[in-house]
Amino acid sequence: MEQMIIKGLEGITVAATNISLVDGDHGRLVYRAYWAKDLALQHDFEEVCYLLWHGRLPNEIELKKLKNDFREQRRLPAHLVELLKILPENMPMMSVIRTCISAMGDGSYQWPPKVEEAIKITAVLPTIIAARSHLLKGENVIDPHETLDHVANFLYMLNGEIPLGAHSKVLNAYFVLTMEHGMNASTFSSRVIASTESDIVSAITGAIGAMKGPLHGGAPSEVTAMLDEIGSKENAEGWIREQLEKGKKLMGFGHRIYKTRDPRAEALKEMTSQLTKEDPWLDLAVHVEAEAIRLLEEYKPGRKLYTNVEFYAAAVLRAVNMPAELFTPTFTSSRVAGWTANVMEQSLDNRIYRPSSLYNGGMPKD
Ligand code: ACO
Repeated sequence: MEQMIIKGLEGITVAATNISLVDGDHGRLVYRAYWAKDLALQHDFEEVCYLLWHGRLPNEIELKKLKNDFREQRRLPAHLVELLKILPENMPMMSVIRTCISAMGDGSYQWPPKVEEAIKITAVLPTIIAARSHLLKGENVIDPHETLDHVANFLYMLNGEIPLGAHSKVLNAYFVLTMEHGMNASTFSSRVIASTESDIVSAITGAIGAMKGPLHGGAPSEVTAMLDEIGSKENAEGWIREQLEKGKKLMGFGHRIYKTRDPRAEALKEMTSQLTKEDPWLDLAVHVEAEAIRLLEEYKPGRKLYTNVEFYAAAVLRAVNMPAELFTPTFTSSRVAGWTANVMEQSLDNRIYRPSSLYNGGMPKD
């Protein structure tokens, strides 16, 4: 029987899920029967975590308890503080996070995965990022704030100041819009690992590894590098043509699923422009977006290449003064909520993932 290979598993359905719907044809994103955009504008990250993990939004008491649990779990365990100090200085932040999350996996993490474990991992991730950033600069680590919510506390731990309300709000929207997105590479990785009945820490460690790659989570810092290189509106067309003629990809454009505008990019664009009125960098970004879409259609007709979430993620993160090297780690801090929800869902109706491959090698002579 002839075996058919579907490279990249494109179009293959590997699981049934109630967590999110990515409607690539219409540019729509749904989390458990809510529009992701509405959730991003109206709800805190913790509330949407509850929605992803439990299947419904929390009531007031449940939300208060969850926020409290986050506050309790966001302090770094002592052994992680020591670990952060001895990891090589040139270790990329994504590798630092991967290593630290892996090091959390003591014997208490057992199959099946639990919400309390998801809270522990999600709550501590920004603390790892902020602590490592300060240690690298030879600065004192800033302890988590006693009362701030998860997203505002992340900015606080990075900068040592209570953040502007507008900054917390736009970053919260970014967190909510990026926390879950169907069967992407990192989510699939987490589910494959969970399907072996391994623990949630192992599943999330693997997902972070997948997220690190530039074709997945590693693009937003490359978007800022691209815009910095272009420098001015006049240079945009020439620069883009040169890249496309060399066969290079433009970072922040194209998506496996969205063949129209990415709704997350649209929402983030809207929010950033309110925050950074008359910002020349944002003005350049809007111009480059329009030029790139026009030229992508010229060089790659019919491929339907539009801005993906990473393009305007760069704008939001820049607007809240996030250093470029923390863009992908920040994305990881939000997406961990989706991974943990998927790992728990996988455990409810599990079958180990075990696809097949087509052997093209030779056979033994005898
Ligand atoms: N710039 C130029 N050409 C592109 C781009 C791009 N950004 N994206 C796709 N294309 C072209 C490809 O060269 C290919 O052309 P061909 O038909 O002549 O061979 C065609 O469009 C189809 O592209 P594929 O790479 O096959 O599409 P795929 O679905 O495999 O890849 C991906 C999607 C990885 C996102 C791709 O568009 C890309 O590399 N984009 C740039 C990196 C990026 O922005 N990554 C962040 C993704 S968002 C996220 O993960 C959260």
